[in-house]
Amino acid sequence: MDVRIDHVRKEFGRFAALDDTSLTIHDGELVALLGPSGSGKTTLLRVLAGLERPSAGRILFGDQDAASLSVQERNIGFVFQHYALFKHMTVLDNVAFGLSVCPARRRPPRAEIAARARRLLALVQIDGLDRRYPDQLSGGQRQRVALARALATDPRVLLLDEPFGALDARVRKDLRHWLRGFHDRTGHTTVFVTHDQDEALELADRVVVMNAGRVEQVADPDTLYDRPASPFVFAFIGDSSSLPATVRAGRLWVAGRALGPVPAADGPVRLFFRPHHARLADTGALVGRVVASRRQGDRRRLDVALRPDAPSDAPSDAPPDAPSDAAGPPHSADLPRPGDAPAASTPVEIDVATDAAPPVGASIRFDITRPSLFPAPAAPRRPIVVAPRPGTALAPPGPKPDRAHAAG
Ligand SMILES: Nc1ncnc2c1ncn2[C@@H]1O[C@H](COP(=O)(O)OP(=O)(O)OP(=O)(O)O)[C@@H](O)[C@H]1O
Ligand SMILES: [Mg+2]
Repeated sequence: MDVRIDHVRKEFGRFAALDDTSLTIHDGELVALLGPSGSGKTTLLRVLAGLERPSAGRILFGDQDAASLSVQERNIGFVFQHYALFKHMTVLDNVAFGLSVCPARRRPPRAEIAARARRLLALVQIDGLDRRYPDQLSGGQRQRVALARALATDPRVLLLDEPFGALDARVRKDLRHWLRGFHDRTGHTTVFVTHDQDEALELADRVVVMNAGRVEQVADPDTLYDRPASPFVFAFIGDSSSLPATVRAGRLWVAGRALGPVPAADGPVRLFFRPHHARLADTGALVGRVVASRRQGDRRRLDVALRPDAPSDAPSDAPPDAPSDAAGPPHSADLPRPGDAPAASTPVEIDVATDAAPPVGASIRFDITRPSLFPAPAAPRRPIVVAPRPGTALAPPGPKPDRAHAAG
Protein backbone atom coordinates (compact mmCIF):
# COMPACT_ATOMS: atom_id res chain seq x y z
CA MET A 1 0.00 0.00 0.00
CA ASP A 2 1.47 3.37 -1.04
CA VAL A 3 1.35 6.28 1.36
CA ARG A 4 0.80 9.67 -0.30
CA ILE A 5 1.53 12.99 1.33
CA ASP A 6 -0.32 15.50 -0.77
CA HIS A 7 0.51 19.21 -0.38
CA VAL A 8 0.62 18.97 3.38
CA ARG A 9 1.14 22.07 5.46
CA LYS A 10 1.49 22.06 9.22
CA GLU A 11 1.44 25.27 11.17
CA PHE A 12 2.24 25.77 14.83
CA GLY A 13 0.77 29.18 15.54
CA ARG A 14 2.02 31.32 12.67
CA PHE A 15 5.05 29.13 12.00
CA ALA A 16 4.88 26.57 9.20
CA ALA A 17 6.87 23.50 10.28
CA LEU A 18 5.79 21.85 7.01
CA ASP A 19 5.22 23.97 3.96
CA ASP A 20 3.46 22.37 1.00
CA THR A 21 5.10 18.96 1.36
CA SER A 22 4.30 16.28 -1.19
CA LEU A 23 5.79 12.80 -1.28
CA THR A 24 4.76 9.28 -2.20
CA ILE A 25 6.18 6.38 -0.21
CA HIS A 26 5.86 3.16 -2.15
CA ASP A 27 4.75 -0.14 -0.70
CA GLY A 28 7.68 -1.98 0.87
CA GLU A 29 10.09 0.90 0.45
CA LEU A 30 12.73 2.00 2.94
CA VAL A 31 12.76 5.80 2.80
CA ALA A 32 15.05 8.13 4.74
CA LEU A 33 14.05 11.63 5.74
CA LEU A 34 17.25 13.62 5.94
CA GLY A 35 17.62 17.25 6.87
CA PRO A 36 19.04 19.68 9.37
CA SER A 37 17.57 20.13 12.81
CA GLY A 38 14.23 21.88 12.66
CA SER A 39 13.58 21.05 9.01
CA GLY A 40 10.30 19.28 9.80
CA LYS A 41 11.27 15.59 9.82
CA THR A 42 9.62 14.67 13.12
CA THR A 43 6.61 16.80 12.27
CA LEU A 44 6.14 14.89 9.02
CA LEU A 45 6.29 11.54 10.84
CA ARG A 46 3.82 12.77 13.45
CA VAL A 47 1.41 13.95 10.75
CA LEU A 48 1.72 10.55 9.05
CA ALA A 49 1.04 8.75 12.31
CA GLY A 50 -2.01 10.91 13.01
CA LEU A 51 -0.43 12.48 16.09
CA GLU A 52 -0.71 15.89 14.40
CA ARG A 53 -3.46 17.05 12.08
CA PRO A 54 -2.27 18.81 8.90
CA SER A 55 -3.28 22.48 8.60
CA ALA A 56 -3.80 21.85 4.88
CA GLY A 57 -3.39 18.99 2.41
CA ARG A 58 -4.07 15.27 2.71
CA ILE A 59 -2.45 12.00 3.68
CA LEU A 60 -3.62 8.95 1.73
CA PHE A 61 -3.08 5.31 2.72
CA GLY A 62 -3.70 3.63 -0.59
CA ASP A 63 -6.94 5.26 -1.72
CA GLN A 64 -8.11 5.99 1.80
CA ASP A 65 -7.97 9.53 3.15
CA ALA A 66 -6.22 9.29 6.50
CA ALA A 67 -8.35 12.11 7.92
CA SER A 68 -11.08 9.51 8.40
CA LEU A 69 -8.77 7.18 10.34
CA SER A 70 -7.92 7.33 14.04
CA VAL A 71 -4.35 6.84 15.21
CA GLN A 72 -5.16 3.19 16.03
CA GLU A 73 -6.87 2.57 12.70
CA ARG A 74 -3.83 3.85 10.85
CA ASN A 75 -1.93 0.99 12.47
CA ILE A 76 1.48 2.58 12.33
CA GLY A 77 4.51 1.37 14.25
CA PHE A 78 6.38 4.33 15.68
CA VAL A 79 9.80 4.40 17.29
CA PHE A 80 10.12 7.88 18.71
CA GLN A 81 13.13 10.15 18.56
CA HIS A 82 13.67 10.07 22.32
CA TYR A 83 12.22 6.67 22.85
CA ALA A 84 11.66 5.53 26.39
CA LEU A 85 10.58 1.98 27.04
CA PHE A 86 8.32 1.40 30.01
CA LYS A 87 10.92 1.16 32.76
CA HIS A 88 8.75 -0.85 35.12
CA MET A 89 7.94 -3.52 32.51
CA THR A 90 10.13 -6.40 31.38
CA VAL A 91 11.36 -6.53 27.81
CA LEU A 92 8.67 -9.09 27.00
CA ASP A 93 5.89 -6.95 28.46
CA ASN A 94 7.17 -3.89 26.61
CA VAL A 95 6.96 -5.74 23.31
CA ALA A 96 3.59 -7.25 24.15
CA PHE A 97 2.14 -3.92 25.24
CA GLY A 98 0.61 -2.89 21.90
CA LEU A 99 -1.26 -6.18 21.59
CA SER A 100 -2.38 -6.34 25.20
CA VAL A 101 -4.15 -2.97 24.89
CA CYS A 102 -5.89 -3.87 21.62
CA PRO A 103 -9.70 -3.66 21.70
CA ALA A 104 -11.01 -6.96 23.14
CA ARG A 105 -12.45 -8.21 19.84
CA ARG A 106 -9.02 -7.97 18.15
CA ARG A 107 -6.88 -8.94 21.14
CA PRO A 108 -5.26 -12.38 20.88
CA PRO A 109 -5.28 -14.68 23.96
CA ARG A 110 -2.52 -13.99 26.50
CA ALA A 111 -0.44 -17.03 25.58
CA GLU A 112 -0.57 -16.04 21.93
CA ILE A 113 0.53 -12.46 22.77
CA ALA A 114 3.51 -13.76 24.73
CA ALA A 115 4.46 -16.17 21.95
CA ARG A 116 4.26 -13.43 19.36
CA ALA A 117 6.36 -11.07 21.52
CA ARG A 118 9.00 -13.83 21.83
CA ARG A 119 9.03 -14.33 18.07
CA LEU A 120 9.60 -10.59 17.61
CA LEU A 121 12.47 -10.61 20.11
CA ALA A 122 14.03 -13.41 18.12
CA LEU A 123 13.48 -11.42 14.94
CA VAL A 124 15.38 -8.43 16.34
CA GLN A 125 17.96 -10.88 17.68
CA ILE A 126 17.66 -10.23 21.39
CA ASP A 127 15.82 -13.38 22.45
CA GLY A 128 16.97 -14.51 25.84
CA LEU A 129 16.65 -11.01 27.31
CA ASP A 130 12.85 -11.11 27.67
CA ARG A 131 12.84 -11.04 31.49
CA ARG A 132 15.20 -8.11 31.79
CA TYR A 133 14.14 -4.54 32.50
CA PRO A 134 15.12 -1.69 30.15
CA ASP A 135 17.83 -0.33 32.46
CA GLN A 136 19.53 -3.74 32.30
CA LEU A 137 20.05 -3.38 28.55
CA SER A 138 22.61 -1.59 26.39
CA GLY A 139 21.45 1.31 24.21
CA GLY A 140 21.50 -0.84 21.08
CA GLN A 141 19.47 -3.57 22.77
CA ARG A 142 16.92 -0.99 23.92
CA GLN A 143 16.51 0.26 20.36
CA ARG A 144 15.82 -3.29 19.21
CA VAL A 145 13.21 -3.70 21.91
CA ALA A 146 11.66 -0.42 20.75
CA LEU A 147 11.59 -1.75 17.22
CA ALA A 148 10.09 -5.09 18.26
CA ARG A 149 7.48 -3.18 20.21
CA ALA A 150 6.62 -1.05 17.17
CA LEU A 151 6.28 -4.21 15.08
CA ALA A 152 4.02 -6.08 17.50
CA THR A 153 0.73 -5.00 15.97
CA ASP A 154 1.97 -5.84 12.47
CA PRO A 155 1.84 -2.20 11.36
CA ARG A 156 1.08 -1.12 7.83
CA VAL A 157 3.89 1.40 8.02
CA LEU A 158 6.89 1.64 10.32
CA LEU A 159 8.06 5.13 11.29
CA LEU A 160 11.45 5.43 12.97
CA ASP A 161 12.53 8.83 14.26
CA GLU A 162 16.32 8.87 14.62
CA PRO A 163 16.22 5.31 15.90
CA PHE A 164 19.98 5.19 16.45
CA GLY A 165 20.52 8.81 17.38
CA ALA A 166 21.72 8.24 20.93
CA LEU A 167 24.11 5.40 20.14
CA ASP A 168 27.83 5.51 19.59
CA ALA A 169 29.19 5.38 16.07
CA ARG A 170 30.16 1.70 16.12
CA VAL A 171 26.83 0.38 17.44
CA ARG A 172 25.05 2.75 15.11
CA LYS A 173 26.83 1.29 12.15
CA ASP A 174 26.06 -2.28 13.22
CA LEU A 175 22.39 -1.50 13.77
CA ARG A 176 22.25 0.27 10.42
CA HIS A 177 23.36 -2.89 8.63
CA TRP A 178 21.04 -4.92 10.73
CA LEU A 179 18.05 -2.67 9.94
CA ARG A 180 18.69 -2.92 6.20
CA GLY A 181 18.80 -6.72 6.44
CA PHE A 182 15.76 -6.73 8.66
CA HIS A 183 13.83 -4.59 6.19
CA ASP A 184 14.83 -6.85 3.31
CA ARG A 185 13.55 -9.88 5.22
CA THR A 186 10.27 -8.41 6.45
CA GLY A 187 9.45 -5.88 3.71
CA HIS A 188 7.69 -3.38 5.98
CA THR A 189 7.12 0.00 4.37
CA THR A 190 9.49 2.05 6.49
CA VAL A 191 10.24 5.74 6.88
CA PHE A 192 13.17 6.59 9.07
CA VAL A 193 14.49 9.97 10.07
CA THR A 194 18.13 10.77 10.38
CA HIS A 195 20.36 13.78 10.16
CA ASP A 196 23.29 11.53 9.35
CA GLN A 197 23.82 11.56 5.60
CA ASP A 198 25.97 8.41 5.62
CA GLU A 199 23.17 6.56 7.35
CA ALA A 200 20.61 7.81 4.84
CA LEU A 201 22.72 7.06 1.77
CA GLU A 202 23.77 3.65 2.98
CA LEU A 203 20.41 2.45 4.20
CA ALA A 204 17.61 3.89 2.14
CA ASP A 205 16.06 2.98 -1.18
CA ARG A 206 15.24 6.66 -1.58
CA VAL A 207 16.26 9.69 0.41
CA VAL A 208 14.04 12.69 1.00
CA VAL A 209 16.10 15.80 1.73
CA MET A 210 14.15 18.31 3.79
CA ASN A 211 14.98 21.94 4.34
CA ALA A 212 12.91 24.46 6.27
CA GLY A 213 9.67 22.49 6.05
CA ARG A 214 10.01 21.67 2.39
CA VAL A 215 11.17 18.71 0.34
CA GLU A 216 14.30 19.81 -1.52
CA GLN A 217 14.86 16.57 -3.44
CA VAL A 218 13.70 12.97 -3.43
CA ALA A 219 16.06 10.54 -5.10
CA ASP A 220 17.94 7.30 -4.79
CA PRO A 221 21.31 7.70 -3.03
CA ASP A 222 23.38 7.70 -6.24
CA THR A 223 21.30 10.36 -7.92
CA LEU A 224 21.26 12.47 -4.81
CA TYR A 225 25.03 12.40 -4.51
CA ASP A 226 25.86 12.71 -8.20
CA ARG A 227 23.10 15.06 -9.33
CA PRO A 228 21.99 17.24 -6.44
CA ALA A 229 19.03 19.35 -7.53
CA SER A 230 19.85 22.45 -5.54
CA PRO A 231 22.77 24.23 -3.91
CA PHE A 232 21.31 23.22 -0.56
CA VAL A 233 21.42 19.52 -1.43
CA PHE A 234 24.88 19.85 -2.97
CA ALA A 235 26.23 21.41 0.19
CA PHE A 236 24.29 19.15 2.55
CA ILE A 237 25.16 15.79 0.98
CA GLY A 238 28.84 14.97 0.90
CA ASP A 239 31.72 17.41 0.95
CA SER A 240 31.74 20.26 -1.51
CA SER A 241 33.13 23.66 -2.22
CA SER A 242 31.36 26.49 -3.91
CA LEU A 243 32.52 29.66 -5.54
CA PRO A 244 30.89 32.66 -7.08
CA ALA A 245 31.39 32.56 -10.83
CA THR A 246 30.18 34.35 -13.90
CA VAL A 247 29.10 33.21 -17.32
CA ARG A 248 29.99 35.64 -20.03
CA ALA A 249 29.72 35.00 -23.74
CA GLY A 250 29.23 31.31 -23.06
CA ARG A 251 32.35 30.97 -20.92
CA LEU A 252 32.74 30.43 -17.25
CA TRP A 253 34.85 32.84 -15.23
CA VAL A 254 36.05 31.98 -11.75
CA ALA A 255 38.33 34.17 -9.67
CA GLY A 256 39.30 36.17 -12.72
CA ARG A 257 40.22 33.09 -14.73
CA ALA A 258 38.41 31.83 -17.78
CA LEU A 259 37.41 28.19 -17.62
CA GLY A 260 35.76 26.22 -20.38
CA PRO A 261 32.67 27.03 -22.38
CA VAL A 262 29.34 26.38 -20.71
CA PRO A 263 25.89 26.28 -22.29
CA ALA A 264 24.43 28.75 -19.83
CA ALA A 265 23.03 32.23 -20.09
CA ASP A 266 25.27 35.14 -19.19
CA GLY A 267 25.17 36.28 -15.62
CA PRO A 268 26.31 35.41 -12.12
CA VAL A 269 26.23 31.74 -11.14
CA ARG A 270 27.40 29.60 -8.27
CA LEU A 271 29.93 26.88 -9.06
CA PHE A 272 29.91 23.74 -6.90
CA PHE A 273 32.29 20.81 -6.96
CA ARG A 274 33.35 17.87 -4.82
CA PRO A 275 36.91 17.77 -3.43
CA HIS A 276 37.66 14.62 -5.41
CA HIS A 277 36.56 16.28 -8.64
CA ALA A 278 39.59 18.55 -8.63
CA ARG A 279 42.78 17.48 -10.41
CA LEU A 280 46.24 18.95 -10.03
CA ALA A 281 47.71 19.87 -13.42
CA ASP A 282 50.59 22.10 -14.49
CA THR A 283 48.27 23.70 -17.03
CA GLY A 284 45.27 23.82 -14.65
CA ALA A 285 42.81 26.62 -15.16
CA LEU A 286 42.69 27.62 -11.51
CA VAL A 287 45.62 28.98 -9.57
CA GLY A 288 45.89 29.04 -5.81
CA ARG A 289 47.97 28.56 -2.73
CA VAL A 290 47.70 25.65 -0.31
CA VAL A 291 46.73 27.08 3.09
CA ALA A 292 46.06 23.81 4.94
CA SER A 293 46.52 20.09 4.41
CA ARG A 294 45.14 17.15 6.34
CA ARG A 295 44.94 13.41 5.99
CA GLN A 296 41.57 11.96 4.99
CA GLY A 297 41.57 8.21 4.53
CA ASP A 298 43.94 7.38 1.70
CA ARG A 299 44.04 10.95 0.34
CA ARG A 300 45.07 14.36 1.55
CA ARG A 301 42.59 17.17 1.60
CA LEU A 302 43.96 20.61 0.80
CA ASP A 303 42.43 23.98 1.54
CA VAL A 304 43.34 26.16 -1.41
CA ALA A 305 43.00 29.94 -1.51
CA LEU A 306 42.41 30.92 -5.11
CA ARG A 307 44.49 33.71 -6.57
CA PRO A 308 42.14 35.90 -8.54
CA ASP A 309 44.89 38.11 -9.88
CA ALA A 310 47.09 35.32 -11.20
CA PRO A 311 48.28 36.13 -14.68
CA SER A 312 46.74 33.81 -17.20
CA ASP A 313 49.08 31.72 -19.27
CA ALA A 314 46.40 29.71 -20.95
CA PRO A 315 47.35 29.27 -24.59
CA SER A 316 44.67 31.56 -25.95
CA ASP A 317 42.65 33.24 -23.30
CA ALA A 318 41.37 35.63 -25.93
CA PRO A 319 41.14 33.81 -29.23
CA PRO A 320 42.31 36.16 -31.97
CA ASP A 321 39.05 35.84 -33.86
CA ALA A 322 36.84 36.44 -30.86
CA PRO A 323 35.30 39.86 -30.32
CA SER A 324 37.41 41.47 -27.65
CA ASP A 325 34.53 42.06 -25.27
CA ALA A 326 33.40 38.44 -25.47
CA ALA A 327 36.70 37.10 -24.24
CA GLY A 328 37.67 39.74 -21.72
CA PRO A 329 37.07 39.45 -18.02
CA PRO A 330 33.49 39.99 -16.95
CA HIS A 331 32.38 43.51 -16.33
CA SER A 332 32.26 44.33 -12.65
CA ALA A 333 28.46 44.30 -12.80
CA ASP A 334 28.69 40.54 -13.47
CA LEU A 335 30.91 39.82 -10.52
CA PRO A 336 29.58 38.17 -7.39
CA ARG A 337 26.63 39.75 -5.73
CA PRO A 338 26.78 41.33 -2.29
CA GLY A 339 26.80 38.52 0.23
CA ASP A 340 28.95 36.27 -1.91
CA ALA A 341 32.32 35.82 -0.29
CA PRO A 342 35.09 36.99 -2.59
CA ALA A 343 36.58 33.92 -4.21
CA ALA A 344 40.12 34.71 -3.11
CA SER A 345 39.32 34.70 0.60
CA THR A 346 37.23 31.50 0.65
CA PRO A 347 39.51 28.48 0.45
CA VAL A 348 38.16 25.57 -1.55
CA GLU A 349 38.78 21.94 -0.64
CA ILE A 350 40.44 19.56 -3.04
CA ASP A 351 41.60 15.97 -2.58
CA VAL A 352 44.96 14.81 -3.85
CA ALA A 353 46.94 11.59 -3.66
CA THR A 354 49.09 11.56 -0.51
CA ASP A 355 52.34 11.06 -2.43
CA ALA A 356 51.55 13.97 -4.76
CA ALA A 357 50.34 16.40 -2.08
CA PRO A 358 52.06 19.77 -2.33
CA PRO A 359 53.12 21.32 1.01
CA VAL A 360 51.29 24.12 2.75
CA GLY A 361 52.33 27.41 1.16
CA ALA A 362 52.85 25.90 -2.30
CA SER A 363 51.31 27.49 -5.36
CA ILE A 364 49.31 25.01 -7.36
CA ARG A 365 47.21 24.80 -10.49
CA PHE A 366 44.23 22.56 -10.84
CA ASP A 367 41.18 21.80 -12.94
CA ILE A 368 37.67 20.96 -11.85
CA THR A 369 36.66 17.77 -13.60
CA ARG A 370 32.96 17.84 -12.69
CA PRO A 371 31.65 21.30 -12.02
CA SER A 372 27.98 21.99 -11.35
CA LEU A 373 26.51 25.41 -11.91
CA PHE A 374 23.48 26.79 -10.18
CA PRO A 375 21.88 30.15 -10.60
CA ALA A 376 23.33 32.68 -8.20
CA PRO A 377 21.40 32.82 -4.90
CA ALA A 378 17.69 33.62 -4.94
CA ALA A 379 17.16 32.32 -8.46
CA PRO A 380 15.30 29.06 -9.33
CA ARG A 381 16.48 25.85 -7.64
CA ARG A 382 17.13 23.67 -10.68
CA PRO A 383 20.67 23.17 -11.92
CA ILE A 384 21.31 24.73 -15.28
CA VAL A 385 24.49 22.85 -16.11
CA VAL A 386 26.14 19.78 -14.76
CA ALA A 387 29.25 17.85 -15.48
CA PRO A 388 30.99 17.41 -18.77
CA ARG A 389 31.20 13.85 -19.99
CA PRO A 390 33.15 11.59 -17.63
CA GLY A 391 36.86 11.88 -18.20
CA THR A 392 36.70 15.41 -19.53
CA ALA A 393 37.43 18.57 -17.64
CA LEU A 394 36.59 22.21 -18.00
CA ALA A 395 39.91 23.22 -19.47
CA PRO A 396 41.26 26.70 -20.10
CA PRO A 397 39.77 27.92 -23.37
CA GLY A 398 41.89 26.76 -26.24
CA PRO A 399 41.39 26.07 -29.91
CA LYS A 400 39.20 22.96 -29.30
CA PRO A 401 37.64 23.15 -25.86
CA ASP A 402 35.55 20.33 -24.42
CA ARG A 403 31.88 21.13 -24.39
CA ALA A 404 30.03 20.96 -21.11
CA HIS A 405 26.56 19.58 -21.59
CA ALA A 406 23.28 20.41 -20.03
CA ALA A 407 21.73 18.52 -17.14
CA GLY A 408 19.68 15.46 -18.10
N1 LIG B 1 4.40 21.41 18.95
C1 LIG B 1 5.11 22.39 18.39
N2 LIG B 1 4.84 23.69 18.63
C2 LIG B 1 5.54 24.67 18.05
N3 LIG B 1 6.54 24.47 17.18
C3 LIG B 1 6.88 23.21 16.90
C4 LIG B 1 6.19 22.10 17.48
N4 LIG B 1 6.75 20.97 17.01
C5 LIG B 1 7.73 21.35 16.19
N5 LIG B 1 7.81 22.70 16.11
C6 LIG B 1 8.75 23.45 15.29
O1 LIG B 1 8.66 22.97 13.97
C7 LIG B 1 9.96 22.92 13.38
C8 LIG B 1 10.22 21.51 12.89
O2 LIG B 1 10.35 20.67 14.02
P1 LIG B 1 10.68 19.13 13.87
O3 LIG B 1 10.64 18.55 15.23
O4 LIG B 1 9.78 18.54 12.85
O5 LIG B 1 12.17 19.19 13.32
P2 LIG B 1 13.17 18.00 13.00
O6 LIG B 1 13.51 18.10 11.55
O7 LIG B 1 12.61 16.71 13.49
O8 LIG B 1 14.45 18.44 13.86
P3 LIG B 1 15.47 17.52 14.73
O9 LIG B 1 16.47 16.98 13.74
O10 LIG B 1 16.11 18.53 15.63
O11 LIG B 1 14.70 16.48 15.45
C9 LIG B 1 10.94 23.39 14.45
O12 LIG B 1 11.24 24.74 14.22
C10 LIG B 1 10.17 23.21 15.74
O13 LIG B 1 10.58 24.15 16.70
MG1 LIG C 1 13.13 15.44 15.01
